[in-house]
Amino acid sequence: MISSSENPGMVHRPVRARRSVLYVPADNARAMEKAADLSCDAVIFDLEDAVGPQDKERARNALSERFAVGSASDKEYVIRINALSGAWGRDDLDMACSCRPSAILLPKVDAVADIVDAETLLEERAAPPVLRLWAMMETPRGLSNALAIADTGSKPGGRLDCLVAGTNDLAKETGVVIPEGRPFMTSWLMQILLAARAAGLDALDGVYNDFRDIEGLRAECAEGRLMGFDGKTLIHPGQIEPANVAFGVSPQALADARAIVQAFADPENAGRGVIQLDGRMVERLHLEQAERLLKKAATQHIEGSEP
Ligand code: COA
Ligand code: MG
Repeated sequence: MISSSENPGMVHRPVRARRSVLYVPADNARAMEKAADLSCDAVIFDLEDAVGPQDKERARNALSERFAVGSASDKEYVIRINALSGAWGRDDLDMACSCRPSAILLPKVDAVADIVDAETLLEERAAPPVLRLWAMMETPRGLSNALAIADTGSKPGGRLDCLVAGTNDLAKETGVVIPEGRPFMTSWLMQILLAARAAGLDALDGVYNDFRDIEGLRAECAEGRLMGFDGKTLIHPGQIEPANVAFGVSPQALADARAIVQAFADPENAGRGVIQLDGRMVERLHLEQAERLLKKAATQHIEGSEP
């Protein structure tokens, strides 16, 4: 991620592994109990689409109790609240503030104002700067405003850290069908990715609904990885391992990154912009990429990955 020393206007964001990000309905006690022991990098406790209208309050209370108990795990915990413009959003936000999760995920973000409104409410509640915002990109309007929305994260004091593709809502809103390979969804996914990268944010791919089809999931994870996503949002524990593998740092990538760092550290190469390594051209931009990959691998506890 972009560091404040490289780009003084930007907020410093630590590099984190977000290979596997599991939705857990906040009204499902059994699933909530299991979440801490699962090997996903992050959990999104959901108060929105996964919880029926009659269960919103019960789910909110259950989540509050869950955070009061705490967790020894170092994964990121995120709370997806209902839209702030609707009946439950404000109460969800109040509860989420008191839980101090890693981030609050805003659903159906349409415009910059949705982020600014949430930031204002967080400031009014004296939420610490470490409480971040993530945004669901899942409406036609939100996609059209993707860059402006993402840019709120690169302004000083901005809390937005991550864009999350909401492919089911996009399909519902547009009528696009999602067959294998997601041919008609790809350009929108890349739009989300581009907007995130322009602002130095992370981007997560959408969910794979057919949770018993692990081979199909592996194929979609591979596709998301090639598109540049940091990880995939998931709906079932059985999907975690394929996502961790697909979005993880492979031993080969780790070895390549270490070789690039070592090559540029060689006094012979001091100050050089471009060198050759095993017959390949390597530039300083590759060094930056390699250093970032090593940092990411360190967050996945891969041995020898410390830069
Ligand atoms: N998080 C944590 N645990 C989960 C889980 C999840 N998202 N989904 C399932 N589990 C647990 C179940 O509780 C069950 O635990 P147990 O065997 O120890 O009792 C185990 O995994 C196996 O579950 P399974 O029987 O295969 O599935 P299910 O029928 O219980 O649930 C879904 C299927 C799709 C309803 C469920 O996975 C789910 O609710 N996923 C999240 C949906 C969501 O959040 N959607 C909104 C965002 S798109
Ligand atoms: Mg949605």
